[in-house]
Amino acid sequence: MLMKTKIRRILFGVAIGPLSLSHIVTAAPAPAHAEASQPPPPPVLEGMNYLTLNRSLEDKYFHEPVGHELGADDRLGHYDVRYFHGMVTEEERAESLHHMVIAYLDFFRLNELETWIAHGTLLGWWWNGELLPWDWDVDTQVLDTTLARMAREFNRTVTSYVSADAKFKREYLLDINPWAYFRDRGPGHNIIDARWIDTSNGLYVDITALSRFNPSDQPTTWECKNRHRYQTIDLYPLRQTMFESTPALVPYMYQDLLVEEYSTKALARTDFQNHTWNPIVGQWILTA
Ligand SMILES: *[C@@H]1O[C@H](CO)[C@@H](O)[C@H](O)[C@H]1NC(C)=O
Ligand SMILES: *[C@@H]1O[C@H](CO)[C@@H](O)[C@H](O)[C@H]1NC(C)=O
Ligand SMILES: *[C@@H]1O[C@H](CO)[C@@H](O)[C@H](O)[C@H]1NC(C)=O
Repeated sequence: MLMKTKIRRILFGVAIGPLSLSHIVTAAPAPAHAEASQPPPPPVLEGMNYLTLNRSLEDKYFHEPVGHELGADDRLGHYDVRYFHGMVTEEERAESLHHMVIAYLDFFRLNELETWIAHGTLLGWWWNGELLPWDWDVDTQVLDTTLARMAREFNRTVTSYVSADAKFKREYLLDINPWAYFRDRGPGHNIIDARWIDTSNGLYVDITALSRFNPSDQPTTWECKNRHRYQTIDLYPLRQTMFESTPALVPYMYQDLLVEEYSTKALARTDFQNHTWNPIVGQWILTA
């Protein structure tokens, strides 16, 4: 516990100001001419209205080698099918995710695209500022205004990456789901708004955006398409920290968010997925 306090103190530098609050715009247009009796139209992201989409033709945009059908190898669900050439080794997975997240965070920072780490990735950060060694993907979030900028300026960008020691080279594709224009869950197969994909093996960062579904009545409530809900004060001001040895941002109320999503057990349990937490070295050690 002492150890953890110490790590926390190192990780937290300055809490930065609410970068984006000034340009948060209404995600859902006010239904100006809607009758009170009619259901409101699905919220849409106005910043992506260059797209002309027919909702009734919505199909799944990102594809994986398998779905979530019974008996499917869950690990296959963590590859983009276009770049999948077979399951990678444990070693390649860990190395790929490490560099993928560094390349992602650096690209977003350099292009002034605000992003923060979320879900299981945030849990890994909570323990020691690193990915959980058994994780198969990386989760991040953005505001929908940032997503709209990604769509207009960076869709299908391919970024070449060379690690600091020059030994690891990769190209990453940033791909924005056009169905992200619709901010409700819809048919449910486009809850991922964008991906940052390792083009050598298909592993990816899942990027989801937060929108205000009801900006006039609930101006501080943010939701993703998978029904995770946040208040502005849960997120802002984002905290500046390090993740996988590169600068990163995390939500202001990170611990409350983790407890809500994973329960207090996830912050206390030291045996998980054949790994044991070693407080001396601050690492999860493989036990099996
Ligand atoms: C949208 O697609 C449906 C199904 O193909 C079609 O019936 C409808 O006319 C289309 N709507 C528009 C506005 O094109
Ligand atoms: C991104 O580019 C792909 C390929 O051109 C396209 O299919 C997709 O609709 C684009 N996404 C957005 C949000 O414009
Ligand atoms: C844990 O180790 C056992 C024995 O090697 C193995 O069968 C099991 O699949 C492992 N579980 C995970 C989640 O890796």
